[in-house]
Amino acid sequence: MRRTFYSLAVLACMAAGVIAPASAQADALLERGSYLMNGIVACGNCHTPKGPEGKPIADRELSGGFVIDAPVFHAVVPNITPDPDTGIGRWTDAQIVEAVRNGKRPDGSIIGPPMPIAFYRGMSDADVNALVAYLRQVKPISNKVEKSVYRIPLPAAYGPPVVAVPEVPKTDKVAYGHYLATGLGHCMDCHTPLVQGRNDMARLGAGGNEFGAPGGGLIASSNLTPANANGIAAWSDDGLKAAIRTGIRPNGSHIVPLMAFGWYRNISDDDAGALVAFLRTLKPAQ
Ligand code: HEC
Ligand code: HEC
Repeated sequence: MRRTFYSLAVLACMAAGVIAPASAQADALLERGSYLMNGIVACGNCHTPKGPEGKPIADRELSGGFVIDAPVFHAVVPNITPDPDTGIGRWTDAQIVEAVRNGKRPDGSIIGPPMPIAFYRGMSDADVNALVAYLRQVKPISNKVEKSVYRIPLPAAYGPPVVAVPEVPKTDKVAYGHYLATGLGHCMDCHTPLVQGRNDMARLGAGGNEFGAPGGGLIASSNLTPANANGIAAWSDDGLKAAIRTGIRPNGSHIVPLMAFGWYRNISDDDAGALVAFLRTLKPAQ
C-alpha cells in the first residue's frame, strides 16, 4: 500500500512538473514579447495612433490608421489588434510570422514599405514568437483603415523565404547589438543611406535619409558611425545610451521624436550597452 501511495505521489509531482513548465514557458514568452514590443521593437511607433503631441494613444494600441507619405507611396498603417474583422484576429500564428519576416499576407499579397521587412527577416524564431504572444493579448479594437497606395511596383518577395532564424547569443555583445539594431530595432533602416530605395549596406549607419519631421519640414537621420566627429564619436558610452533611451544628447539638445523614445526608454541597460558596443564597431563613413 505504502508503495502505491509513493508512486501516486511521484506521478502527481511529475504531472504537476509537466504542467508548470508549460505555463511558465508561456509566461516567459509573453514577458519577452512585452519587453520587446514596449522597447527596442516598438511596432507601435508606426502601428499605434498618436495624439497631438506625438504621444501614442495608450487605449488605441496597435489599432493603426497613421498615414506615412513619401514621394513613391501613401502608406496607411493597418490595424494589427486581434479584432477579427478589421485587425488580424483571424490570422494564425504562422501567418503573423510570415507577414513580419517575409512581408506576405495570408492572401498572398505583399506588404509594402515603410514596414521594415528587409530588417525583420533577421528576427529570431524565439523573438518573433514572443511578439506573436504579445499581439494575441492586445485589446481588440475595431478600426477599418484605407488601403495604401504605391506608385512603385512592390517586389514579388523580399528574398528567399525565411523559415528559421537561430537566436543570437547575448554573450557576444557586438553581435547582439547588431541584432538589436537590425532584426529587432531596425535602427539601421533609418540610419543607412538609401540608394534607389534600398539601404546601401556598405555604408551601414552613415545616415542622411530624410524624414518628414513631426512639426513640419524635413530632417535627416544622423551619421551613427565613428566618422561623426561632432556626434556620437565624441560621446561617452553612457551619453550615447542616454541619447538612445531618452532622446536627449549629451549637450542637452533634443533628438526629434521620430525615433521611438516613448518605447526606447524601456530598453534594458545590458541591451543599451550592446547597441553602443555595436555602433562603436561601424565602419567610419560619411
Ligand atoms: C516604419 C513603420 C512600421 C513599423 C516599425 C512596423 N510596421 Fe507593420 N506595417 C507598416 C505599414 C505601412 C504597413 C502596410 C503596408 C501596405 O499597405 O502594404 C504594415 C503592415 C503590417 C501588417 C499587415 C497587416 C494587414 O492587415 O495588411 C502586419 C501584420 C504588420 N505590419 C505587423 C507589424 C509588426 C508586428 C511590427 C513590429 C515587429 C511592425 N508591423 C512594424 C508600417 C510599419
Ligand atoms: C524612424 C527612423 C529612425 C529609427 C527607427 C531610428 N532612428 Fe535614430 N535618428 C533618426 C533621425 C531622423 C535622427 C536625427 C534627428 C535629429 O537631428 O533631431 C536620429 C538621430 C539619432 C541619434 C543622434 C545622433 C547625433 O549625432 O545627434 C542617435 C544616437 C540615434 N539616432 C540612434 C538610433 C538607434 C540606436 C536606433 C535604434 C534603437 C535608432 N536611432 C532608430 C531616425 C531614426
